[in-house]
Amino acid sequence: MDHFQYKNGELYAEEVPVRRIADDVGTPFYCYSTATLERHYQVFADAVSGLDATICYAVKANSNLAVITTLARQGAAADVVSGGEMKRALVAGVAPGKIVFSGVGKTEDEMAAALRAGVLQINVESLPELEQLSRIASSLGIDANIAIRVNPDVDALTHEKIATGKSQNKFGIAWDAVPGAYALAAELPGLNVTGVAVHIGSQILTLEPFRQAYGKVAELVQSLRAQGHDIAHLDLGGGLGIPYEDETPPTPKEYGDMVTSVVGGLGCRVFFEPGRLIAGNAGIFVTRVLIVKEATARTFAIVDGAMNDLVRPTLYNAHHAIVTVKEPSKGAARTEMEVVGPICETGDTFGVPRMLPEISPGDLLCIRTAGAYGAVMASTYNARPLVPEVMVRGNDYAVVRERISVDDMMAHEVIPGWLKKAAE
Ligand code: LLP
Repeated sequence: MDHFQYKNGELYAEEVPVRRIADDVGTPFYCYSTATLERHYQVFADAVSGLDATICYAVKANSNLAVITTLARQGAAADVVSGGEMKRALVAGVAPGKIVFSGVGKTEDEMAAALRAGVLQINVESLPELEQLSRIASSLGIDANIAIRVNPDVDALTHEKIATGKSQNKFGIAWDAVPGAYALAAELPGLNVTGVAVHIGSQILTLEPFRQAYGKVAELVQSLRAQGHDIAHLDLGGGLGIPYEDETPPTPKEYGDMVTSVVGGLGCRVFFEPGRLIAGNAGIFVTRVLIVKEATARTFAIVDGAMNDLVRPTLYNAHHAIVTVKEPSKGAARTEMEVVGPICETGDTFGVPRMLPEISPGDLLCIRTAGAYGAVMASTYNARPLVPEVMVRGNDYAVVRERISVDDMMAHEVIPGWLKKAAE
């Protein structure tokens, strides 16, 4: 359930007409709903309330400061994968002691920054990283609290580009190497090994892969404890899928019940890293129709948003529902149309042709489920400015990131001296 619904014949974001925002800020733009963000966080928190749970919002899904701050106010901790995300989480008011630093490749600077900030835990994904972190922690005189991310070799049954738990993926320590990694970590100075971490992928639509991975991890915890390791934390990652079209993912409650039955008996503090589940349906992307073009094979609605703004459809063939901001009348005729952007690539599409009500230049379209992996994955291809992000709360809204103008972008570029001379 989200808070983008038709009322009085047009689409509202909570109590604000989307059209009004479009008139004020221009198109295209992202729009987030505070109520939906809070609701999703709360539903997930309720679903795992039987455990000693820490919900680390995966900042990568949507790292806008207003989004992180909204969730931090709900009590969320944060999962970050770069120095930039850590900085954002801190600025948004997440206490360092509520930040988990993950990621398959961290720079020395990032490790040192995480240690100096005093993060809750650093998830380590390889033996060289263990040694590097040990060295940096020792030189700073700070003990690093670490979990080792393991690769359980489980197929998450999701898009191949976002599956992370199979042995051929770059993530985590190979299952057979795990006992050796814990033995090494126990010997190295500066490391305080507290847990096991696992994350098998994203947009996972059945419980089975999670159950398999978590079952393997539960056995691992027992055998590591038998070998004398004090395992107090379990980081179970994110990945629970959401409906984009007609998918029926497990509910957070079903997921929470499964987790409780599989790992509840271990007495661990359990970390979760949901991203998409919290932010996905809390955001829409709004774009205006520039031209309706009847080509030989099909009709195109060419809009002012493009693949640089929302890359998921072309990158993963992801389906995002597309609706008109004006509510179509009941029984309105629909025609097949492909919604595409203005970028000079055939891949600049928001999906395969859809049945849409009649639309004309100037009409607004809403691309749903764009709150996660939308704005964060945008680029400036074709010298297109990064679009504004707007957050709604009840009948109020605020621009939470301004449009980054082309002048702003060019301001960071420098013409080298020899070219300046040549021009004189
Ligand atoms: N924890 C770790 C270690 C992760 O790598 C990820 C996502 C998450 C948590 C959050 O997963 P979520 O709950 O959001 O599924 N750009 C892709 C998704 C990439 C996910 C990367 N890792 C997309 O647009 O589908």
